[in-house]
Amino acid sequence: MTTQAPTPSQVRDAWDAIADGFDRYATPQTMAFGEQVLSRLELGPGVRVLDVAAGTGGLSIPAARTGADVVAVDISPAMIEHLAARGRTEGLTGLEARVGDGEALDFDDATFDVAVSMNGVSLFPDIPGGLRELVRVTRPGGQVLVVTFGPMHKAEFIAFFLGAMQATVPGSVPPPTGPPMPPFRLADPTTLRRTLQEASLRDVRVETTTWETGFDSVDHLLDTVLTSNPIAGQLTAGLTHEQFGQVRQVLDGMLRERSGGDPGAVLSCEMRIGQGTV
Ligand SMILES: C[S@@+](CC[C@H](N)C(=O)[O-])C[C@H]1O[C@@H](n2cnc3c(N)ncnc32)[C@H](O)[C@@H]1O
Repeated sequence: MTTQAPTPSQVRDAWDAIADGFDRYATPQTMAFGEQVLSRLELGPGVRVLDVAAGTGGLSIPAARTGADVVAVDISPAMIEHLAARGRTEGLTGLEARVGDGEALDFDDATFDVAVSMNGVSLFPDIPGGLRELVRVTRPGGQVLVVTFGPMHKAEFIAFFLGAMQATVPGSVPPPTGPPMPPFRLADPTTLRRTLQEASLRDVRVETTTWETGFDSVDHLLDTVLTSNPIAGQLTAGLTHEQFGQVRQVLDGMLRERSGGDPGAVLSCEMRIGQGTV
């Protein structure tokens, strides 16, 4: 069976549909992690930063808080509206939010000092093409930094959800032996390093770090997962109301087991950070 890559308008519509929830649930957690990620770069006034597949600002907002000039690009107009609203609320005058396709960036070569993408380029159907664009628009000597998930079983908020799905409706999630789902295609550090080197980056380093994500309850976890990537909603779309209730119950049990009886828990997520010089 061949799977066709979705068209840009399908990608846009799918992310537009979950942008409100993404902004409410994912971004507050992502921004805290984003700050940690950006400490690897020297950002500040006068530094020109591009964030590709910026979502509602997980990296762009903390980058703009340093005083850097940040351009945030995302294919989803709804994501960009939320991102711009966050920038206005914080009075971040150096932040520009633009709708655009990261696979065909609308910038001249060598426009930026730094280009970043967190769980962005790693989701593109053509990852090497997306990376080539990041490299093209970054000046020689500038930095490109890419953040992606480690293996799925170590992204606990996703693994818990998929585990509850599989326990309730066997066969409802892709088998672990198949090709990795899009968010995990660069999870292997060797693959990530090689992919960055093949994009002509020099001095490539790949680091593993942990992102702690806190959830107050099973519903908080479900709301987050179902609006963090359109794939989650596609997986639950075939469930009956009763089956979804069972998934929720199993997941509730998993969270309580982790926390020792409380409804909420902190879950950890192994992340890879790849960085190189143009
Ligand atoms: C998982 S979110 C990550 C958002 C943000 N970087 C973060 O870490 O919070 C993936 C984002 O990629 C965007 N996206 C997907 N394909 C894209 C493309 N070809 N060009 C630009 N953005 C894209 C989606 O609209 C979505 O906002």
